Amino acid sequence: MNTKFAYTKEVAQATSSIFDKLNSQYSEAYWKSMAPYIYKINRLKKEKNAIILAHNYQTPDIFYGVADIVGDSLKLAQEAAKTDAEIIIQCGVHFMAETSKILSPEKRVFIPDFDAGCSLAESINANDVKKLKEKYPNTPVVTYVNTSADVKAETDICCTSSNAVNIVKKLAEQGHKQVLLIPDEYLALNVAKECPEIKVITWERGHCEVHERFTPEDIKNIRKRNEDVVILAHPECPPEVVDECDFSGSTSQMQQYVEEKRPKKAALITECSMSDNIAAANPDLNLVTPCQLCPHMKKITLPKILKSLQEETGEIFVDKQIAIKAKKSVDAMLEMSK
Ligand code: 13P
Ligand code: SF4
Repeated sequence: MNTKFAYTKEVAQATSSIFDKLNSQYSEAYWKSMAPYIYKINRLKKEKNAIILAHNYQTPDIFYGVADIVGDSLKLAQEAAKTDAEIIIQCGVHFMAETSKILSPEKRVFIPDFDAGCSLAESINANDVKKLKEKYPNTPVVTYVNTSADVKAETDICCTSSNAVNIVKKLAEQGHKQVLLIPDEYLALNVAKECPEIKVITWERGHCEVHERFTPEDIKNIRKRNEDVVILAHPECPPEVVDECDFSGSTSQMQQYVEEKRPKKAALITECSMSDNIAAANPDLNLVTPCQLCPHMKKITLPKILKSLQEETGEIFVDKQIAIKAKKSVDAMLEMSK
């Protein structure tokens, strides 16, 4: 047995309150193998003045075990901009860590697995944006945060799933007749339905590989099998899927909806860990889980977090000039979202 990672009395004591919350999610045997990592990460975090930011799609052991701040992309960006910690460990995907670095260039930002990417961020590069700007002059470029720093640097204002509608509406109020909303085609089409006052130009090659898998038939089947179910979808789902649902919003907006309204039964049309995290905190909620796994989010694990923190591996660097330009578009979003 590896004594470095033994489930000692000290580990059991320090982690028992976390296991109390997660015992419906994990077996005792699995917990005993993971708790020593949680214990070590939490101690090391304090020693190094580090903070762990975790997205809502992280697994419950990370979400409840080691994260200091959890939330959707907007919340994580807001927190990265104001933390006093010297080190940020980003438990999420690469663009999230890059956004933290852009907002806090003086801090050291690490991602526990450099290969945790995103199909949306992969779908577009800075050259593509330059070409779009030539094709549509005098058109504001609104870019989803799920993009690289190079793409953000070519952008007027970023958005997330929680503020995209508001940002596009504000641009319409400012007198703009059209807007480029890239790269998620489905998010843009869903926003366009709510903003008929402005023409929304989309990028047809960008889709989330997780949310694009849901179909209207999936939603109809959930309704058929579950009387009185309230169905919530992430706006990265195709518009015909969102049309079949009762509510659409960012990951945190979905969580807020079910925790406040407490429907008899709810189905979250999004990534699997969302429901697991909500279920752990709200054992009385009845959640149907027709979820899909994000293979990138799932690359982040407790052993990789410990390695990154201990050995300082997976550090994020962004070219200074790119970071300055990219920061303007993220700051513009944060300003508009206040
Ligand atoms: P949220 O900003 O809603 O958390 O979404 C991020 C994401 O990657 C969803 O797939
Ligand atoms: Fe990207 Fe989709 Fe994974 Fe979110 S769920 S990180 S949009 S691939």
